[in-house]
Amino acid sequence: MEIIIQPTPKAASEIAARIVARVLQAKPNAVLGLATGDTPLLLYRELVRLNLDWHKVTTFNLDEYVGLAPDHPASYHRFMWENLFDHINIVKKNVHIPNGLAKDIPAFCQKYEDAIRAVSGIDLQVLGIGTDGHIGFNEPTSSLGSRTRIKTLTQQTRQDNARFFGSEAKVPHHVITMGIGTITDARRCLLLALGTKKAQAIAEAVEGPITAMNPASILQAIPVAKIVLDEAAAGQLTKADYYRWVYDNKPDWQKL
Ligand code: F6R
Repeated sequence: MEIIIQPTPKAASEIAARIVARVLQAKPNAVLGLATGDTPLLLYRELVRLNLDWHKVTTFNLDEYVGLAPDHPASYHRFMWENLFDHINIVKKNVHIPNGLAKDIPAFCQKYEDAIRAVSGIDLQVLGIGTDGHIGFNEPTSSLGSRTRIKTLTQQTRQDNARFFGSEAKVPHHVITMGIGTITDARRCLLLALGTKKAQAIAEAVEGPITAMNPASILQAIPVAKIVLDEAAAGQLTKADYYRWVYDNKPDWQKL
């Protein structure tokens, strides 16, 4: 795992955007796994500003709420089009987001897995982290080998996400999410975390044991994982000075 600590959310998001950009420049037909929520907003803004060529890129989003139509204001479909896809030259058929209205959810989830396999897997998976350590919507105790499936949100996550719905009562209980096994099959993962609210989950994920109680901790076990943090999210790391020293002393070519 590489831990990159930056002074501000903007600086962290710009580094994350450069990591994504580098993948697209090296492989114009790259397959990206994408996240939603507050965390990637500045990252997506920066990707738009970089004016990259997305016309051969394929994307798979991590998750969607069960029961929400794509045009629902809080749906992740809507989020992705408003914050990224409407502003880049991506081809619509190359965009994949779980269908919250799927009639047969297990069959839909299997098709999603098949579609990822059909394009030879994900080159770079972008992740945020929940305050309970979730990645995608794999809540604590999710199987570390899980595949795309329906999950039930914890009360903590429903409280955290109430801001997108106006009230907690309106937050759906169920979601479709890529599994932890689906995520860790990606050739590399980039987790971005911003703000003090994420500091405890990050400290547990980075410096605690690998455990289903903090799904993000599985990133310790994959070959290439970059964890990009602002100072606030890094606030509870015991070896932060070491991570800073390592990053500051890397040759430039190795920095992304
Ligand atoms: C969303 C997702 C979630 C979020 C996490 C953090 O697609 O996969 O794991 O990354 O809930 O959300 P924010 O960024 O809103 O704090």
